Amino acid sequence: METKSASVPANWSPASWQQKRAAQQPVYPDLDALQTALAQLAKLPPLVTSWEIENLKHQLAEATRGERFLLQGGDCSESFADCESAAIASKLKILLQMSLVLVQGGKKRVTRVGRFAGQYAKPRSSDTETQNGVTLPSYRGDMINRSGFSREDRTPNPDLLLRAYERSGLTINFIRALIEGGFADLHHPEYWELSFVSKSPHAADYTRLVESIGESLRFMEALSGSVLADIGRVDFFTSHEGLHLSYEQAQTRQVPRRAGWYDLSTHLPWIGQRTRALDGAHVEFFRGIANPIGVKIGPAVTPDEALALADALNPQNEPGRLTFIHRFGAGRVEKCLPPLVAAIRRRERQILWCCDPMHGNTETTRDGIKTRRFDRILEELEKSFRILNESGAHLGGVHFELTGDNVTECLGGASGVTESDLARDYRTQLDPRLNYEQAMEMALLLARLMAQRKK
Ligand code: PEP
Ligand code: CO
Repeated sequence: METKSASVPANWSPASWQQKRAAQQPVYPDLDALQTALAQLAKLPPLVTSWEIENLKHQLAEATRGERFLLQGGDCSESFADCESAAIASKLKILLQMSLVLVQGGKKRVTRVGRFAGQYAKPRSSDTETQNGVTLPSYRGDMINRSGFSREDRTPNPDLLLRAYERSGLTINFIRALIEGGFADLHHPEYWELSFVSKSPHAADYTRLVESIGESLRFMEALSGSVLADIGRVDFFTSHEGLHLSYEQAQTRQVPRRAGWYDLSTHLPWIGQRTRALDGAHVEFFRGIANPIGVKIGPAVTPDEALALADALNPQNEPGRLTFIHRFGAGRVEKCLPPLVAAIRRRERQILWCCDPMHGNTETTRDGIKTRRFDRILEELEKSFRILNESGAHLGGVHFELTGDNVTECLGGASGVTESDLARDYRTQLDPRLNYEQAMEMALLLARLMAQRKK
């Protein structure tokens, strides 16, 4: 396995980010309590291991070369209240089922990365929120403060860092146990909850696909003369926005027999759209860790900036190290994406292009509800596929906000969620997510796009 990349860059340490401007960090009233919590975090065992991280980097290198596809998805923000068995199992299930659909469409292996086991810190557009004349700090995710609107709720509390670490550990423990116990058994796709199929215009496609997964397995088992137990064991990796730098630093370690420093709070941390300043603390921290990393790329990023990010974050041009998670919006992707792809190709930089069709397509209804339209999400995906293909590159992954439950947060899809449905089961604390039916339908349409590209 590759380890040569994991050297430590010049003038870097896990704390060197502290010399730079760190956007979006909470202001703790009690700094001693913060230091106590961080000291505990620094002693607690890691949540993931360096060999899992290197395995993921290897898989992302394959995706960068077009041999694999990345499926990343989960909640906009996890909440402590949702750290329970049914919610975790349904997140795994939706990612697993979507990935199988994509395998069938793209005829390549799919790497599943959840936005889970640590997605507890959120950037906010305003530091404060005012309700009825009262102004309090904004809610910044369960790792930092609470969403209720009292001064106590909103005051950043360092103990929550430990609670977030523990919840992440509980989540990942349960995920590992489910996988070990055969949860992801592909032998019985016919047991999947497929009630949406009857309403869907893609019903025939979907039924055929599910049947063909079962058939392929039985065919391979007939060939090999044994039950393919290993196929039932699929990998899941974790990811979250590496926003809270003291938290990430506390989990950043050196490990025996490998060079470099690993952020062991997650496999794939990413830098958000609001914290990607080249001279900022996040880029400083991320440039030194050995994990594969992502950066959100929005409409304001110029080709020069994209190149500068690639140089700063992946100076050795290692495939699999750097994923650009682009999120322009269906209306802007045709203008924004081509110049970036051209610049990156001209300079032969190794980038995995992963489309986040969610964050550039958020809108507010007349009733003031934040939502996203299924058609706009699909449109950004379709355009990204085409643009990357036409410019000699390829779309190597997708990034969704989704849930395995049938919430009503995004509009459209075959089940036809309308504006008046939104109020019925709108649960997200922050961004609207595709529900189970919408996510499965999206996977099916995406698989169709992938299949067409192969012809
Ligand atoms: C997110 O992924 O939830 C998010 C805040 O995205 P972005 O940084 O792209 O705005
Ligand atoms: Co979001």
